Amino acid sequence: MNLSYISPKAIVRESRIHGRGLFAVGAFAKDEIVAVKGGHVFDRRTLVEIEPVLGPAEIQIGEDLFIGPLAESEREGSMIYSNHSCEPNIGVRGQIVFVAMRDIEAGEELTHDWATTDDDTYRMECRCGATACRKIITGQDWRRRELQEKYGQYMSWYLLERIGEVGS
Ligand SMILES: C[S@@+](CC[C@H](N)C(=O)[O-])C[C@H]1O[C@@H](n2cnc3c(N)ncnc32)[C@H](O)[C@@H]1O
Ligand SMILES: [Zn+2]
Repeated sequence: MNLSYISPKAIVRESRIHGRGLFAVGAFAKDEIVAVKGGHVFDRRTLVEIEPVLGPAEIQIGEDLFIGPLAESEREGSMIYSNHSCEPNIGVRGQIVFVAMRDIEAGEELTHDWATTDDDTYRMECRCGATACRKIITGQDWRRRELQEKYGQYMSWYLLERIGEVGS
């Protein structure tokens, strides 16, 4: 069952960044919807229980809220397969809607910067291949001023709240 929505103009296939990734098979105009993440909504305690079994398949949507699969049978239908890139072409609006941040051509891998969605403790060696790759990305990158400026409103709503750009 498809818990997430992936545009008919995107497919999942092998990626040079990691495993499988999401790729455009048609052109996207800036701000067009590429994918909407779906699944169950759960807290970090639940995430800690399921992650060893399901691996990374969720997206953070609040300080202590995540959306994703809770069972192996739901994993495939909940994944949007967006790998991280330090020079991404899609961004988040709200917490679960991923849109094109610029015009995108068929064939491009569709990636987002995890600094725009995550508030976590991980450190990961990045293999995005971008000229401006940060090499090491962390779950605290959302705090970096230059990234906040780069992404503007293409950041998860709960992070924008914390950065102070919303409602004040
Ligand atoms: C939600 S999955 C993304 C889909 C994944 N490629 C797959 O085939 O399942 C997240 C995992 O992809 C890998 N990954 C994504 N972007 C990466 C990057 N830029 N550099 C290194 N690993 C990456 C990491 O192992 C990460 O834990
Ligand atoms: Zn990178």
